[in-house]
Amino acid sequence: MNDSAYQKCINPACGAEFDCGQSLFKCPACGELLDVRYNWDKVKVPSKLNDFAKRWANRENPLDFSGVWRFRELLNFCEDKYKVTIGEGQTILQQNDAVGQYVDMHPGCLYLQYEGLNPSGSFKDNGMAAAFSHAMMVGAKSCACASTGNTSASVALYAHHCGLKCTVFIGSGRIAFGKLSQGMDYGAQTIQIRGDFDDCMRQVQDVCAKLGLYLLNSLNPFRLEGQKAIMYRIIEGLGWQVPDWIIVPGGNLGNSSAFGKAFAELKQLDLIERIPRMAIINATGADTLTELVNNKKLTWNDGKVNQTIIDEYYADLTARNFSPHTCASAIEISRPVNLKKCLRSIDVCNGVVRAVTDEEICDAKAIIGKFGLGCEPASAATIAGLKHLRAEGVVAADERVACVLTGHPLKDPNLTINYHKDKKGKFSNPPIEAPNDFEEIVKLIK
Ligand code: F0G
Repeated sequence: MNDSAYQKCINPACGAEFDCGQSLFKCPACGELLDVRYNWDKVKVPSKLNDFAKRWANRENPLDFSGVWRFRELLNFCEDKYKVTIGEGQTILQQNDAVGQYVDMHPGCLYLQYEGLNPSGSFKDNGMAAAFSHAMMVGAKSCACASTGNTSASVALYAHHCGLKCTVFIGSGRIAFGKLSQGMDYGAQTIQIRGDFDDCMRQVQDVCAKLGLYLLNSLNPFRLEGQKAIMYRIIEGLGWQVPDWIIVPGGNLGNSSAFGKAFAELKQLDLIERIPRMAIINATGADTLTELVNNKKLTWNDGKVNQTIIDEYYADLTARNFSPHTCASAIEISRPVNLKKCLRSIDVCNGVVRAVTDEEICDAKAIIGKFGLGCEPASAATIAGLKHLRAEGVVAADERVACVLTGHPLKDPNLTINYHKDKKGKFSNPPIEAPNDFEEIVKLIK
């Protein structure tokens, strides 16, 4: 057993601790979320971050090749023999001045972190490398998740690799085609529930508890450990410097939770001098975090989160029979399971929260496609959100900003085609019909 890591309830009034050999997902004592914590004095953490660069020279070793495990001292919860990798995290941080111009940033200041370059096409693979390692460590045989699509694709891929049976729960009619196709192709049992993601999330927790399935949603604290690596790679991409801002879409709030934890730990370990600010961007049709933080003034409050505000907000959603709606289906979530950890990250990172419309998301997505490597709609919420933050003056034009583009453009081809073909979008680029005639075709070429 690894004695350098343990699980701990995030509720300071409880603070119960458990060893990493258990798969719990919620504190058995009080029902709150669990963290993975480390006894840092028992881990050989490099004295400076650029020591990790040495691993590049040894990348024939799969753990050194992995964009998660090459930072393994920072998520040291299991022995190497359990570690799972399928080559996740070979992503790039691209300086993009053209997209920067769209959001009114000075040249050299906007960076795009392309998590769509992961094996299953989204950032989820970072988390799954870690969570499946834990699943192997505890001897899991079957697993499950609820998903707006990307989690299911990633879970299906890793489950197959690890030899685990896998069931994914998706809401009916709420999943982009690219993602649905992946789950089926990777051999997952797909259960489409008549309901939305929040309904799936409730069902999967009960099903996992009843049948003893290993749960792979971001409630799983080991998954969030893997997602910390996205921040390590952004720092690496900046020559081991910290940006001024991290901008991330907010759905179930796993990423924002993981990123804040990553920075808090790096600071504690003296591996960084300052913590960047974070902006979390909702879609207006799924803006629970924005409502709770900006309007209801919900804060982390040293862990003593005002539960009444949350309960009243959710009771109102239920009374109104509210179901979230956004074209960014990945973040179409109204009861984010990591809400409290996200509040902690906002506290750690002096964070801000904004919501952007579907139109703003689609336009930003077209700009990222035209000038960058493209992304799926939820990812483009970052650029749409940054546009707001620039207009408000919250982010300065000369600050260094890294936007996390969470998923690949081919995840949701329908939305892209509709945007361009309908000619409704500001940046639509529809195909031009031409007769099968050489002269006519030549005339059309601009
Ligand atoms: N971007 C993409 C592409 C996503 O797939 C998700 C979440 C998010 C952003 C939001 O991230 O939950 O960490 O705040 N997708 C989940 C899924 C819910 O089931 O695939 P978060």
